Amino acid sequence: MSDLSTTALEIVAPGKGILAADESAPTIKKRFDSIQVDSTEDNRRDYREMLFRTKGANEHVSGVILFDETLRQKAKDGTPLVDILTSQGVIPGIKVDKGAKNLAGAPGEKVTEGLDGLRERLEEYRGLGARFAKWRAVIAIGDGLPSTYCLDTNAHALARYAALCQEAGLVPIVEPEVLMDGPHTIERCEEVTGEALQRTFDELHRQRVVLEGILLKPNMVLSGTECKTQASVQDVADATVRCFNRHVPAAVPGIVFLSGGQSDEVATAHLNAMNAMDCTHPWELSFSYGRALQAPALKAWAGKDVEAGAGAYLHRAKCNGEARYGRYTEAMEAAATTRGEKLVSQD
Ligand code: 13P
Repeated sequence: MSDLSTTALEIVAPGKGILAADESAPTIKKRFDSIQVDSTEDNRRDYREMLFRTKGANEHVSGVILFDETLRQKAKDGTPLVDILTSQGVIPGIKVDKGAKNLAGAPGEKVTEGLDGLRERLEEYRGLGARFAKWRAVIAIGDGLPSTYCLDTNAHALARYAALCQEAGLVPIVEPEVLMDGPHTIERCEEVTGEALQRTFDELHRQRVVLEGILLKPNMVLSGTECKTQASVQDVADATVRCFNRHVPAAVPGIVFLSGGQSDEVATAHLNAMNAMDCTHPWELSFSYGRALQAPALKAWAGKDVEAGAGAYLHRAKCNGEARYGRYTEAMEAAATTRGEKLVSQD
């Protein structure tokens, strides 16, 4: 088995998933604004250091996606943040795209940039300890959207990125995100998600990407946020697994869902329902959550309370770890995280 596929399988090991902590500078500022904390380099470090040092989180979190700054950053005591992760057996990853920009000639649509100089950046990131990478394409559903132009352009960029990652020995996380914003139905989301996946895998094949050495990070199939009829948890699970069975080749080791604006508990319930389904699928169904793992931790931390922040993070990590087995229950939410023992280790 190649190193790439070994790493990919390690990331989607039973009961485990990914923490997406790769918010870009403007995004982390938005998150910190919500808790009235200044987005300074030290505050960003303290917050992420708290997450990475949370004792026991590594039982549920196999990998963490970092932003460029964090990959190079040291903890307060001088230990590189990457070393804090690797010493606990957690695999560091790196966001390498440069964000979604307006797609020329396609009002309301985006294309993700960042291919120029990517080969050299990947080489450097690998040297800094990253073993996997992430590139996010953004697809909006609207009147007459998405266009095939937008789907194809983003699929092409995702495949170019993925091929370069594999050349550099990094597992590419391929993320075609169909946004949940809008009044569209779950059926429309299923149709667009299927089309986006199909075109992405066509391009991955054309550009000689080895599917055993990638992970797919997609949206779940959901009702639009403003749709009058909201699908049930079971409907979401059924539609998502059906859609992926149709469009994701069996060689892909794992699907690591993004949360995309779902509440933390709903994102866990959806993942749990998929894993509890009485049907077979060839890939692991896991998580790569940003907001759904961090929102309660951010609020509890509020710039100062490291133990409360770590407790909230560990709780969500545990719940999602259980959802990987289809064993998550609402009762878990009521059970307070056991305190008494310090959760943030300084080792
Ligand atoms: P969310 O889970 O907050 O959508 O973030 C995941 C991510 O990495 C988006 O690119």
